[in-house]
Amino acid sequence: MSQHIDPGDYNHIVFFTGAGMSAESGVPTYRGKGGIWGSYSIEEYACQEAFERNPRKVLDFHQKRRRSVLDCEPHEGHRVIAGMPEARVVTQNIDGMHQRAGSKEVIELHGSLWRLRCQSCGFKKEDLGEEYETDRCSCGDRLRPDIIWFGDMLDAVVMSRASEAIRNCDLFISIGTSGTVWPAAGFPDLARKSGAYCIEINPEPSGATSYDRVIEGAAGEALPELFGVSRL
Ligand code: OAD
Repeated sequence: MSQHIDPGDYNHIVFFTGAGMSAESGVPTYRGKGGIWGSYSIEEYACQEAFERNPRKVLDFHQKRRRSVLDCEPHEGHRVIAGMPEARVVTQNIDGMHQRAGSKEVIELHGSLWRLRCQSCGFKKEDLGEEYETDRCSCGDRLRPDIIWFGDMLDAVVMSRASEAIRNCDLFISIGTSGTVWPAAGFPDLARKSGAYCIEINPEPSGATSYDRVIEGAAGEALPELFGVSRL
């Protein structure tokens, strides 16, 4: 790959990541071969109706995901991003890998596997273990994973922080997303319309026209190469 990027040439960099960002760490993506939605139905595991029907089953599914993510480690690509603390990370991922690599203030569009929230009073509880400590809020109602399930609205504050970061960026790098889930799928176009130079990193590029440069490669290799960082 030619043409390294010098972060110093840009005022505001946004890394926009999807499940492919964590694929080399061993966290499965959602779609395609081995994808989570190929083995687990959204209707049974990833919507409010499923939780209301059978909360234990939905919590068990999320606990299983927590255990498998705890067995994975961030890779060199996560570390390259974490090495640019002034850059903003907007992620669709719920796995916390960017934070484990050292990124601060990650904007988590779809929530987190490591937080619960009360469906009644809105209380949020960080919960980092393999098993959830409790599924009850002190108000008496149930705690549910603080994840945007299908049919849920995105958190308006999180969405506006993400949109603002993207509108203000002059370099936008999308990594490992199929670009099929809205409103996140609109971010590459927003970045382009805002005048940012847009790069996509994906072994199977999305085909979106928003990108100035497409790197057909895996995140863990392409990111160090793009920034000219020698790999450990
Ligand atoms: P997908 O599973 O839809 O897409 C993963 C993308 O990662 C694909 O385009 C792959 O080609 C790419 N990919 C695979 N390995 C890669 C690698 N090593 N390096 C770079 N890219 C790689 O995942 P998302 O686009 O993140 O939402 O899915 C979006 C949302 O759909 C998720 O946040 C989740 C899901 O349903 C919720 O659960 C709310």
